[in-house]
Amino acid sequence: MALKPNLIPEPALLDLPDDQGMLSWQNIFLNDQPVELEIGSGKGTFLLAAATQFPNHNFVGIEWARAYCDFAADRLRRHGLTNARMVRSDANWWIRAHVPDQSLHALHVYFPDPWPKARHHKRRLIQTSFLQQAVRILVPGGVLRVVTDHAGYFEHIRAVVGEFKLLQIIDFVPPLPAADGLLVGTNFEKKYVLQNRSFNSLALKKP
Ligand SMILES: C[S@@+](CC[C@H](N)C(=O)[O-])C[C@H]1O[C@@H](n2cnc3c(N)ncnc32)[C@H](O)[C@@H]1O
Repeated sequence: MALKPNLIPEPALLDLPDDQGMLSWQNIFLNDQPVELEIGSGKGTFLLAAATQFPNHNFVGIEWARAYCDFAADRLRRHGLTNARMVRSDANWWIRAHVPDQSLHALHVYFPDPWPKARHHKRRLIQTSFLQQAVRILVPGGVLRVVTDHAGYFEHIRAVVGEFKLLQIIDFVPPLPAADGLLVGTNFEKKYVLQNRSFNSLALKKP
């Protein structure tokens, strides 16, 4: 699935050896700025906007699909952003393998794959085990934001979150001033707005 020929994902692509163990954000970004992680970045539209608007934060996007990951990394490179990286991996695995405890200020999950069939629900990203990882990697006061257009997935998220007592539900404040009244400004949001779909959002804070 080549989105565009001649993509140059380096140097915005972060490609760690599987056996490297926990990473150091300081070694990657060469500064101590707060780090925010987006899961399922797609074409990187949110990451690009966030890294441009907040040069004093570092941003990392994890994307499973290589073509999208390379596309997003190429965009970050073309915009000359040194405070953003893309990772090509499964977020569940990569977070467990590489992200240190209490090292992230925010986690962004926008329009995650809904896996609508009942037999696929176990593939949904937001599960108790994911929330446990969120608690582990967020700093105190760190926030997890989720937006979905899928009512069934949102019900599932609310049920999982309702039983999980280690994160506190707070008001959803858009993470950046997205254009045209969009909540987060991702490609899927822009597409779904044109289809008049409604969205649900949720924000959780680590106390
Ligand atoms: C529905 S798309 C949304 C993309 C983007 N967030 C947006 O709103 O435009 C979901 C994306 O998450 C990626 N994805 C799904 N599961 C993933 C996982 N476990 N780790 C990393 N990426 C994942 C998919 O490849 C896909 O690009």
